[in-house]
Amino acid sequence: MIIEEKIAAELPEWRQRVSHLIKHHGNQKVCDVTVEQLYAGIRGVQIQVSDISYVEPYQGILLRGYSIPEILELLPKAPGSEIPLAGGLYYLLMVDRLPSLGEAQAVEAEWKKRATIPGYVVDVLRALPSSTHPMTMFSQAILALQSESVFTRQYSNGLVKEDYWKPTLEDSLNLTAKLPGLAACIYNLKYRDGICLESDPDVDWGASFAQLIGKGNDWEYRELMRLYMILHSDHEGGNVSAHTAHLVNSALSDIYYASSAAINGLAGPLHGVANQECIRWLQDLRRNFDAFPTREQLESYAWETLKSGQVIPGYGHAVLRVTDPRFTALLEFGKKYLQDDELFRLVNMVYEVLPEVLSQYGKVKNPWPNVDAVSGSLQVHYGLTQFDFHTVLFGVSRILGLTTHAVWARALGKPIERPKSLTTRMLEEMVETVRVPVAMESEVGAS
Ligand SMILES: CC(C)(COP(=O)(O)OP(=O)(O)OC[C@H]1O[C@@H](n2cnc3c(N)ncnc32)[C@H](O)[C@@H]1OP(=O)(O)O)[C@@H](O)C(=O)NCCC(=O)NCCS
Repeated sequence: MIIEEKIAAELPEWRQRVSHLIKHHGNQKVCDVTVEQLYAGIRGVQIQVSDISYVEPYQGILLRGYSIPEILELLPKAPGSEIPLAGGLYYLLMVDRLPSLGEAQAVEAEWKKRATIPGYVVDVLRALPSSTHPMTMFSQAILALQSESVFTRQYSNGLVKEDYWKPTLEDSLNLTAKLPGLAACIYNLKYRDGICLESDPDVDWGASFAQLIGKGNDWEYRELMRLYMILHSDHEGGNVSAHTAHLVNSALSDIYYASSAAINGLAGPLHGVANQECIRWLQDLRRNFDAFPTREQLESYAWETLKSGQVIPGYGHAVLRVTDPRFTALLEFGKKYLQDDELFRLVNMVYEVLPEVLSQYGKVKNPWPNVDAVSGSLQVHYGLTQFDFHTVLFGVSRILGLTTHAVWARALGKPIERPKSLTTRMLEEMVETVRVPVAMESEVGAS
């Protein structure tokens, strides 16, 4: 298999670099953590190494060092398409080399061989109540596949540690191959005819979901899905879903356990579900006015949201300090193909108005949009109005990144993750403060 051969060739040098760092610089301190960071989600603390991707605050995500515009320009495209093949992106993430068209197509061919979804997984999905959230269905479907894990089987037969990455890669290819089909099956069960189809061998991975939900003839939607799958694939190791997958996999729980857990994290409103919240907010905004709102009306609506103590979904980021380039890529797609769409026009107007409002609001560190501020409006335009489903598509793409992190964590022999915790009393002793009674504290504050 092409990815396995290439990783095997790269691995000796990587292992040597890492063991050199640990052997010669193992005791060197590289970062500090403050009391505030300990209470604030260990924000900004550099607690892990990941070479797959890096969020640069002013450039956005760099996938193996390439920015989003470079990725979109340099990766090989599907024939007849302006958007790269996801197989090429997976090759780049896994192998750390830009692929040729042949190499990208070789990954696509691997996926096609492995795409069939076992009947029992569809049975599990069908058995769930119709009210089940699509993210719950997605997580359960991935977990149901766990019995297929090659890693878990080989591990119980005495696999040697330095080979852990090989069945992890095998599992990763097997799982990722099935994801568009799984997502489409969930969509069809919940919102269409309930039929789960086999993916068409002539359709590339990125466009496969479109074909499987009956939109195979819609060229624009196929293009959107390819773009969507590239843009959501990874966002370094510290975000909730990536970190969850890494943590779970560090216990040598296989890719299925790790990915299902990651999807549960992605289902949170401050993470992947923000794309649903965003559509909800935009639709509520539109409904609040009889006609398309003016800038002034939009501004006052935004203030109402903020004053009621809610966040404005799609804006802000823990790391980014500029407009997310993934937002920009999707905005450009929208400007090309759906300029007159009302919801998309609203997205544009919010982008013109909101950064200034959030800056005046004061406490938001990044007043600029992230990818969620636009992604849902494009899906709605092409008929995916059931926005609680959108995060499943985010998850399909994100598992490309998660599995790559896992393969490399196993390849480099990373151990089980086990940070240490402190008690508040210990912290108080460490910072040599005496606890001030609450009454005295407010007196001090008032002075
Ligand atoms: C993404 C997000 C969770 C990052 O959180 P963070 O790193 O704590 O962000 P900040 O450091 O800028 O937060 C500082 C304050 O501004 C608030 N804030 C941040 N983004 C905000 C937004 N879009 N609307 C209103 N308030 C916001 C925070 O809630 C926090 O308030 P608090 O001090 O009362 O707790 C946050 O920006 C957010 O909730 N955004 C909306 C949801 C979203 O788009 N999520 C998708 C992320 S890809």
